[in-house]
Amino acid sequence: MSESPLLEVENLCTYFRLSKSHPFGRSRTVFAVDDVSFRVSRGTTFGIVGESGCGKSTTAMSILRLIKPTSGSVRFDGNDVLKLDPKPLRRLRSRMQLIFQDPYSSLNPRATAGNIVAAPLKTHNIGSRQQHHERVSELFSRVGLRPEQQTAFPHQFSGGQRQRISIARALATDPELIVCDEPVSALDVAIQAQVLNLLIRLQRELNLTYLFISHDMGVIQHMCDEVVVLYLGKIVEQADRNSLFSHPLHPYTWSLLSAVPSIYSDADSLKQRVKLKGDPPSPIDPPPGCRFAQRCPFADTSKHCYSKMPLLRIIKGQHKVACHRVSEEGVAPQDIHTI
Ligand SMILES: Nc1ncnc2c1ncn2[C@@H]1O[C@H](COP(=O)(O)OP(=O)(O)OP(=O)(O)O)[C@@H](O)[C@H]1O
Ligand code: SF4
Ligand SMILES: [Mg+2]
Repeated sequence: MSESPLLEVENLCTYFRLSKSHPFGRSRTVFAVDDVSFRVSRGTTFGIVGESGCGKSTTAMSILRLIKPTSGSVRFDGNDVLKLDPKPLRRLRSRMQLIFQDPYSSLNPRATAGNIVAAPLKTHNIGSRQQHHERVSELFSRVGLRPEQQTAFPHQFSGGQRQRISIARALATDPELIVCDEPVSALDVAIQAQVLNLLIRLQRELNLTYLFISHDMGVIQHMCDEVVVLYLGKIVEQADRNSLFSHPLHPYTWSLLSAVPSIYSDADSLKQRVKLKGDPPSPIDPPPGCRFAQRCPFADTSKHCYSKMPLLRIIKGQHKVACHRVSEEGVAPQDIHTI
């Protein structure tokens, strides 16, 4: 029997009600995360990709219950995260940690690096002072920092080193799941690879599971075993890395990939490149139909693109797509149409 997934997200919805701009105005809702489901196997990296504002961070924060979701369920190692009482939730939180995008603002500028890394141990009442000291030294060397740097303050470190401090802090409680929310997008390109490779090495050494968020297809390809592509709060495509990158089915995924020549330079399937026009529309009260329709080069009234929301359906193996124009055999509109 196969091992149960570490994380199971079912029909997760997180909507934000916006206050009315005037007393007789219409109330409006941001559909930030809208009916999102996926499973993450232990020891793997599960990617969430999409443009800014598509709901990546809201999904992560909802899973960790740092934001209250509107509905749905989140199971972590069989525990129903959204229904747990405060005490068991606290215990569970030590097993799920978060690394933020910006190592500049996420570290307390007045605390030493050693105290920053020790903080989760204190919060969760784990070990004595002496044990904290030993654990912090061990974590420093694990992430490639020197033990004597424990007494330095965040501003004395480079961006890459600060992200190493964030990683050491996330590892302190020996978690099973680490949510990495754009962990390298604030770093110089040369430093990004070092931090990504550190995360890969730590995963191997500690059998970590990552929920890995990025807007960068190149980073997703480097890191992830499985990927969901989000657009305006909805999953539009889900697949393992090989299927997604060798044969993207959704026109949105295809456009994201075609914008990265290094990924696609020798792939037969990219017969044309497409540059998406404009930013995604607002997720406030989206229109009926496919949410990508306004920007999709293949949107077609006769195929219900503007009137019916396409459902996420399985095409082949575990490759799923939400597009009216992908055939049951997996022929995507970009495979047969030129634009
Ligand atoms: N507290 C809030 N109240 C109202 N709207 C919100 C709130 N938090 C997020 N949103 C909206 O929800 C949508 C999703 O935001 P989210 O931060 O999850 O996107 P993201 O994919 O992480 O974007 P980025 O790549 O810029 O980090 C956006 O339209 C955002 O403006
Ligand atoms: S359903 Fe229509 S509008 Fe949406 S991605 Fe597919 S072809 Fe484009
Ligand atoms: Mg975000």
